Amino acid sequence: MSPGDLDKALCGLVFPTDENVLVGLDRADDAGVYQISEELALIQTVDFFTPIVDDPYWFGQIAAANALSDVYAMGGVPKTAMNLVAFPAKEMELTVLRQIIQGGIDKLKEAGVVLLGGHSIEDREIKYGLSVTGIVHPDKILTKGNIRIGDCLVLTKPLGFGIINTAVKAAMVSTELTEKVTKLMATLNREAAEIMVNFDISGCTDITGFGLLGHLAEMVCGSGVGARIDFGEVPVIEKALDFADMGMIPTVAYENREFRREMITIADTVPRAVQDVLFDPQTSGGLLIAVSGADAGNLMAALHGVGIHESAIIGVVVEEPAERIMVA
Ligand code: CO
Ligand code: CO
Ligand code: CO
Repeated sequence: MSPGDLDKALCGLVFPTDENVLVGLDRADDAGVYQISEELALIQTVDFFTPIVDDPYWFGQIAAANALSDVYAMGGVPKTAMNLVAFPAKEMELTVLRQIIQGGIDKLKEAGVVLLGGHSIEDREIKYGLSVTGIVHPDKILTKGNIRIGDCLVLTKPLGFGIINTAVKAAMVSTELTEKVTKLMATLNREAAEIMVNFDISGCTDITGFGLLGHLAEMVCGSGVGARIDFGEVPVIEKALDFADMGMIPTVAYENREFRREMITIADTVPRAVQDVLFDPQTSGGLLIAVSGADAGNLMAALHGVGIHESAIIGVVVEEPAERIMVA
């Protein structure tokens, strides 16, 4: 659904809640958080979608990495998961479904997460994903609502997945680049998440359907601050700018831009292709972390130290103008 559609559909509805809801539907965040005890809160999230790559095994891995990501973005540790499956069992070989599920299982194993069950339905179109439950200490939850003036913004995966996938559908992408992007999407945000908690961080989210600027917009609005992005520092997958120049841009990128039109100012010096990349919807994108200026260099060194080479400091949190993003 486009950004805004869900808001419209839910507007005015009253959701049940209680005092143990630490993060609920009243504000945009990656996952819900429910307090169980002084020391323990549950993180719950669900994500599923139609295939974004041709290979069923890789699709399963990407769907699982994407579903797990929201738990990492909240500062938590994922523990259990349930499968969500829609499959045209009458028209398609069941081995396809088997490979999708195997991809999911292998990612869960890598994450140290157990599969407890799931639900499947017959459907004309394949859909796969998972609901994931994680745990976090109630004092360690990373929301979108607490980023601080002076924090540096760190992005841990390059942008351009949506644009490259659009070009893949037009048969314009080399096998090597297709594989590279597939692997990037299937890469867990686990390692980056485990590293970031050792530093002075104030918030985190993961980059998915709203694109970098859409998700950053939620952070600055939630925190009552502004942000400046240095477009030259934003990591972008090779060729993504070329494909953007050719018009290989997912429709959602335009919707993302339109939805945030009033709060984002982009300097004329920023090339159009870069602007498109900044709104490009990502599947299983990287983490966007707000870290204190004093710790930013150390966080970068630690991320690069474990091989997350494309992570970069892309901007800074500012006081004014509040609830605005400036890109230059
Ligand atoms: Co998220
Ligand atoms: Co999500
Ligand atoms: Co978060």
